[in-house]
Order: sequence, then structure tokens, then C-alpha cells
Amino acid sequence: MLSLPCKVGLAPLAGYTNSPFREVSYEHGACFAYSEMISAESVLFTFRSVAKMLPSLDEPFTGIQIYGSDEKQVLKASMKLQGYGKFLDINAGCPVKKVVRKGAGGALLKDILKLERVVRALKKNLGIPITVKTRLGWDKDESKTIYYRLVNAGVDMVAIHARTVKQAFKGKADWKALSRIGEKPVPLFLSGDIFSPKDAIRALEMSGASGILVARGAIGNPWIFHQIRALIDGNVYSKPSLEERMKVMMSHLGKNVEFLGEKRGVVEFRKIVPGYTKSLPNAREFRAAFMKIDDYESAIKLILNFFGHFQRSDSF
Ligand SMILES: Cc1cc2nc3c(=O)[nH]c(=O)nc-3n(C[C@H](O)[C@H](O)[C@H](O)COP(=O)(O)O)c2cc1C
Repeated sequence: MLSLPCKVGLAPLAGYTNSPFREVSYEHGACFAYSEMISAESVLFTFRSVAKMLPSLDEPFTGIQIYGSDEKQVLKASMKLQGYGKFLDINAGCPVKKVVRKGAGGALLKDILKLERVVRALKKNLGIPITVKTRLGWDKDESKTIYYRLVNAGVDMVAIHARTVKQAFKGKADWKALSRIGEKPVPLFLSGDIFSPKDAIRALEMSGASGILVARGAIGNPWIFHQIRALIDGNVYSKPSLEERMKVMMSHLGKNVEFLGEKRGVVEFRKIVPGYTKSLPNAREFRAAFMKIDDYESAIKLILNFFGHFQRSDSF
């Protein structure tokens, strides 16, 4: 069984949750995280392409998420990666066509026997906890069966995005579905539609889950982790001041530039900008301006100018 440090983790988000994103999330209360999903095939054949995705050894509690359809490849790749993560997670939920078509990700839910075999093989051959992140089912809710079959295969923790694979991101996450699972011999984490601390509390109450994962709700909003933990502990939480928003945004950008290099670090930060500037006046113009630049100095100037405007109008 995987013993997690708290009830609130950062979900894997391909294209987002790189090392800087995880670092900022840890600084603000996430107590575990996943790498972005890593293809077993690329681990074996083009290792250089995945090296940047691996957690560094000093990350507090980051697991590596792997996806693939060939059982032997997944095992071999996982063995190669195990030294880099605190746990090894199998992606059994990704609905993306090019992943599912190959029999990986969410397609594993059409062949649960295979998923069980993968878990057993990893349990037998790896020395770190094995977890699975999955969905309610392929096209209907089979979460109870899936959970217990994974438990019997020896899994150490399960996280369920409370939609089916077929649903992808349509409709609302069905938090209540997890409450029908009943006894939980290993931790069961819930993912799906956690955008505020209140969502998290309601989701925990409705699902009876052991904890929750925050995904899209953490983009440009790392404060959500401490806020959720405060509410869970029965405390009040505060919202970040504008100054705090600006500082954390600049710090996240700086880490991104250090990690990816100047141009890529700034360009890839564009998709995080809406989160940090959500519901602020003139955010749309600011985002449009940010889309046009790709150097660090201009990015910092823009941010200082944008938030400085509020400072001048005394709302800091
Ligand atoms: C852009 C994007 C990338 C994602 N990448 C992954 C991934 O690599 N592995 C995974 O298991 N889930 C992935 N997910 C699913 C999320 O981890 C999460 O389960 C889902 O977004 C539902 O949570 P939310 O409604 O709180 O965002 C991704 C979701 C999004 C939107």
C-alpha cells in the first residue's frame, strides 16, 4: 500500500506538469505529484527524448507515469525508470485517439486482464510502489470491478478520473460513482472537476475517496493545494494578494526558462498565463501581448507592467 503524505496531489497533465510546474505546486502544498505520461516505447528506443520528463532525485514525492500496450515493453521500460520515481504509475485512462488506437491508456480498460497482468509483473519485478490512474470504465461505470481487480493484482494505490474513457472530457465528473466502491484496502484518489477548495471538499464527501488530485484547477493557481488542505483541516484559507500572484507567476516563469531555455521557456509559459491572470481586468489584452513575445526580459516587463497597473490604482 502506498502511504501518501496528505490527501491532495497534483495530477499528471501532459504538456504542463513538467519539473517547474511540480516545484511550484509542491511549494504551495501539493504533497505528491506525477510526471507527465511517458511512452514505454520511447523509454526503450529514444531515451534522450524522455530524460527531461523524469523527476529529479530531490523532488519530494513524484511518481513516474508510463503508458504502453506491449506488456514486455512496459515492464522493461518501468524497470529502467524505477530509480527516478517514488512510485510507478500506469496510465489506464488516456482517451487520446493515437494512444487508444495502439491499445494503450484508456484502451486497457477494454482488456482488464492485461492491465492486471501488467500490475502483477511490475509488482514482481520492481522495488517501488505500483499505482494505476484510470477512469470509471471504457463506456460505462465499472469502477468497483476495476478497483478490486487491481487490488487483487497487488496495486498500491488507484486514482480514478470520474468519467468514462468514451466521455473524454464531456459532461461532469461523477464523484458519487466512487462512493459505490465501498471498502478501500488501498488508497483510492479521485480526479475530475476540482477547480476550487469547495469542489474538493464536496468531492471528498460525495465520493468517500481517500484523497483528491487537482489537474486543470492547478494551472496558474498553485495556491489551490494549501487552500484545500486548510479546508480539510477545518481552517479558513486566504486568497493570494495581487503582489503574491505576480511574484509566483514570475518565479514560475523563471523556473521554466531555466529548465527549458529562454525561448521555449517563455513560449511554453503562454498556456499557463491565463491561470495566473484569471478574472483580472485587462487580462485579455495582457494575454494577447504575451502571445507575441518569446524572450524573458519582455515577459518580465509585461508582467510588471500588468500588475503594476493595479499597484498604481492601490489594489495591491
Ligand atoms: C491537457 C491535459 C493533459 C493530461 N495529461 C494526462 C496524463 O499525462 N496522464 C493522465 O493520467 N491524465 C492526464 N490528464 C487527465 C488529468 O490528470 C485529470 O484526470 C483530468 O484533467 C480531470 O481532472 P480535472 O477536471 O481536475 O482537470 C490530462 C488532462 C489534460 C486536460
